[in-house]
Amino acid sequence: MKKTSRRVVIAGNWKMNMTPSAAKAAIEATAALVKGKDGCDVVLCVPFIDVATAVEAARGTNVKIGAQNVHFEKKGAFTGEISADMLTEAGVEYVIVGHSERRQYFGETDETVNKRTRAGLDAGLKVIMCLGEVLAERQAGITEEIVSMQTKLDLAGIPEEQLKNLIIAYEPVWAIGTGLTATPDQAEEVCCLIRKVVAGLYSEAAAEALTIQYGGSMNDGNAAELLAKVDVDGGLIGGASLVPEKFAKIVDAAQA
Ligand code: PGA
Repeated sequence: MKKTSRRVVIAGNWKMNMTPSAAKAAIEATAALVKGKDGCDVVLCVPFIDVATAVEAARGTNVKIGAQNVHFEKKGAFTGEISADMLTEAGVEYVIVGHSERRQYFGETDETVNKRTRAGLDAGLKVIMCLGEVLAERQAGITEEIVSMQTKLDLAGIPEEQLKNLIIAYEPVWAIGTGLTATPDQAEEVCCLIRKVVAGLYSEAAAEALTIQYGGSMNDGNAAELLAKVDVDGGLIGGASLVPEKFAKIVDAAQA
């Protein structure tokens, strides 16, 4: 199905689910199901406490491990936070930054999302930077303004050469965990807009090379038609990533 040379990335976001023993079993099951499916990168973003177990369970498989947040300072008095160096030393390759749940419940702003993104990229992590409008913004007809603004603020000060390790996840907040998926046309429209904003900030070449995911109630039933869209280069999947069989079907849908 793929239409460009961009790398397709299918990433699971487990959120606050899975104890370490459950994580081990889920990663082993997922790895067995996605073995040899190398038409896309397969990533599972796990809770911090599961990282060590997850990295071990994924060793030698094509499942890569991600975290769900990273702090922007290198070290210090930041109780409860985790640094980029801690993640890389533990074998983490990807990190989600700016998820709407972090913005909504934990006071993340575009400024902190930008700082966390920069810290992750500086440490060599692949950063999945999330943005998207809330329902009231879509209903008010300002999705384009909101998404453009977030894209610009969240990318502030990031040099073009670091974009190779950046993924943007377009996640309309009204679609997350609600069972309400954006239509393929809605997803395409906003992913395309993000690409245009990136082209304006950097270059056509940088925008053309950037992986842009859709996230928000993507599942094994709707993944194929979302991923068929020209500017949708993968998915960030919450609920369906907790069930290895469902997640593996999404990975199947992403094979070229
Ligand atoms: P969902 O979550 O697939 O459960 O809607 C997506 C996300 O929050 O990344």
